[in-house]
Amino acid sequence: MLIKDKKIVLGVTGGIAAYKAVELVRLLVLEGAEVQVGMTAHAMEFVAPLTFEALSGHKVICHMFEQHHVVMEHIEWAQGSDLVVIAPATANFIGKMTHGIADDFLSTLVLAATVPILLCPAMNNKMYENVAVQENLEILRKRGIHIMEPAQGSLACRSEGRGRLPEPVDILEQIRILLGPNDMQGLKFLVSAGPTAEPIDPVRYITNRSSGKMGYALARMARARGAEVVLVSGPTSLPPPVGVEVIGVRTAEEMKAAVLGRAKACDVVIMAAAVVDYRPKRYEEHKIKKEDESLRLDLEKTPDILKELGKSRGETPRVLVGFAAETQDLLNHAQQKLQEKNLDMIVANDVSRTDAGFDVDTNLVKLLYRDGVIEDLPLMSKDEVAGWILDRIKGLLGL
Ligand code: CTP
Repeated sequence: MLIKDKKIVLGVTGGIAAYKAVELVRLLVLEGAEVQVGMTAHAMEFVAPLTFEALSGHKVICHMFEQHHVVMEHIEWAQGSDLVVIAPATANFIGKMTHGIADDFLSTLVLAATVPILLCPAMNNKMYENVAVQENLEILRKRGIHIMEPAQGSLACRSEGRGRLPEPVDILEQIRILLGPNDMQGLKFLVSAGPTAEPIDPVRYITNRSSGKMGYALARMARARGAEVVLVSGPTSLPPPVGVEVIGVRTAEEMKAAVLGRAKACDVVIMAAAVVDYRPKRYEEHKIKKEDESLRLDLEKTPDILKELGKSRGETPRVLVGFAAETQDLLNHAQQKLQEKNLDMIVANDVSRTDAGFDVDTNLVKLLYRDGVIEDLPLMSKDEVAGWILDRIKGLLGL
């Protein structure tokens, strides 16, 4: 989706992070992109072109004079693709780009490019901080080159700092944003995701099986289509989506404060979180010891965040969407929640299936609307489901 059938040129330059470019090609191809890889001579010291050829299904070009004689591929690739990505981009390559030096296939290609360019610098942190590199990046930024900041962490040279090539999934996300249709630009989304965790004592809590994958997919996809997105997330093991403001919460009470405080400023609110319904009435300050044969926990209801949102609806949010996680009588329960919580749409999810709902990458849902219309979607990836939901939200917004 968004990347499917797009033509992407990936330029790999000579840094240790070249191995990560291999994974990036794999991810792009899985998304249905056509990827053509160009490498510098130094990049070939790190990874063999054959690896990229096997994954992309295309010949890798490394040297200027390897091109076919009739078509000049550096021009063809630079002008006939949808995007040029340079990952990793070394300090040397960035310097050449800044000063228009074209002394090999890749630097010539970049100079000839008429399509957007995404540059992903990766190098030692001191090299990255060097004023020469920073000034070059600033010049390139001003010329409209998209630059993805390197990540912080441990570097191949055994030091710590900013200089790591971002993870391939994050570069993929950035590519999605650049290639996305931008049809949600100007809209503000609030998405909640994941479970909540309600503490019993310092070492125990009540939670549920939600992984957060559906909510994260919605946040990522809305961002990729140009929306400004705030993601209020319960505890999950998922990486924060690129370009999305993530607010981490633990309890239903914290989620309520984060959501209600921001909802009015948003056009769309999607509650995909699996909020725990009952929490311990009291929190034990010390670990409960196993002294008795049985233990009673007194529970009380948590606030119903979505219901409160639905009750106090004014002009904004313009669209309010909920999820219904059910194991039986899916449509009736979902219909009831749609009405009780005053929603525009509810995504009904049969969580008793093994290929839908909690902790899997696919989902099978039905979309229910205020006017009684029910839409049955086929089994698909959570990213695809997110795409459908966003299309329907666009309709509800009258766009
Ligand atoms: N929800 C919420 N606050 C809660 C419980 C649920 O905002 N305390 C939201 C969920 O994010 C979801 C919708 O309400 O969008 C329905 O959640 P679900 O767990 O399916 O239903 P509940 O309302 O909790 O009812 P039940 O547990 O009885 O099915």
